[in-house]
Amino acid sequence: MLENKNIILGVCGSIAAYKSATLVRLLVKAGANVKVILTADAANFITPLTLATLSKNPVYTQYFDAETGVWSNHVELGLWADYMLIAPASANTLAKMATGICDNLLTAVYLSAKCPVLFAPAMDLDMWKHESTQHNIQQLQTYHNQLIAPGSGELASGLYGEGRMAEPEEIFSFLEALISQHLPLKGKNVTVTAGPTYEAIDPVRFIGNHSSGKMGFAIADQLATLGATVTLISGPTAEKSLHKVNRINVTSAADMLEACTAAFTQTDIMVMSAAVADYTPVKKETQKIKKHTEEFQLELRKTTDILATLGAMKKDHQLLIGFALETENEEVHAKAKLLKKNLDLIVLNSLNDKGAGFKVDTNKITIFNRAAEKTVFQTKSKTEVAKDICTEILKLVARS
Ligand code: CTP
Repeated sequence: MLENKNIILGVCGSIAAYKSATLVRLLVKAGANVKVILTADAANFITPLTLATLSKNPVYTQYFDAETGVWSNHVELGLWADYMLIAPASANTLAKMATGICDNLLTAVYLSAKCPVLFAPAMDLDMWKHESTQHNIQQLQTYHNQLIAPGSGELASGLYGEGRMAEPEEIFSFLEALISQHLPLKGKNVTVTAGPTYEAIDPVRFIGNHSSGKMGFAIADQLATLGATVTLISGPTAEKSLHKVNRINVTSAADMLEACTAAFTQTDIMVMSAAVADYTPVKKETQKIKKHTEEFQLELRKTTDILATLGAMKKDHQLLIGFALETENEEVHAKAKLLKKNLDLIVLNSLNDKGAGFKVDTNKITIFNRAAEKTVFQTKSKTEVAKDICTEILKLVARS
């Protein structure tokens, strides 16, 4: 969720400044680009070197370097930020922000920033309770700045009470929750299938395929990153899903059918990227089959086409996305599957394309929609391909 988000962290003079190191680590670990601005007082509590090392960016402390004359452009920094976080926010800086006083780099960037601003106050309990502080906080909220309320506990003065800065983990979760409110798939239930299915022949053997599940897992991760509530129905695979994805493990095509039909009524968007077996043994032997005969025939029965089943169940508000894996006459087959299975999008993979298909980290796709529009993509990593597929899904969501 925080991946590639630009975040300015403003740190004020407070003993809680030491916690900004943990906060920077959490943000960087989540993939955010972090630039830290320290007030002059903050630099007495935590060194620029610590925060520069953790953020992997230079730390800004003043408008310009007196020795070199190098100038830190506050307007540029303000516009760079997707989010501005002030933690710890001292009573002094809150007062300046509330009244528009702009006497240091942090307050200048605050006035220049157009992005959402969050502030986590830290001060002694009487400073926190003071009417002027409370008035300033209310004022800041009328400017749509978000308060991350302090907690109670032992304060630096030795007194107990309210004023202790929220813990870095709480600040991080607050920011994540704020971002998720604005995500395009917030409130959407999405179901993704991935991986192969295994069709048992006897207790030790099965019919399977080479699907690794990588593509479906990348799609599930990307949809979750876009704010959807994601259920991932996966066949046997070594892939790992994001913790926020609700994973259901299945083995056979019949298991997958059952899980998909159960999930479908609650699903807004269904992406069927699993490589479901088309045939399953008519009979599963209960004991291991012995090699008594020179020749051996296995009788197979067609499995239920899950995608076509869901296509027949589909309501107007639901979107159904399928895949087509082809080796010849690709476009004709893909378009036919789109119509026959009542899909909104079909993603075509051709095994004739280099870098496409099973067990590789790349894929090359072409997407067709119901309006017969065709979008051809270059060979990319499966993560990038997942993003392209999700972009096409977002276009459909925007239209619906
Ligand atoms: N699919 C499915 N249930 C099946 C078989 C396939 O839901 N029993 C889905 C796949 O997940 C994929 C789409 O159907 O999204 C197309 O799968 P593909 O193997 O390309 O084609 P099939 O429809 O199985 O047809 P064929 O194998 O004849 O090309």
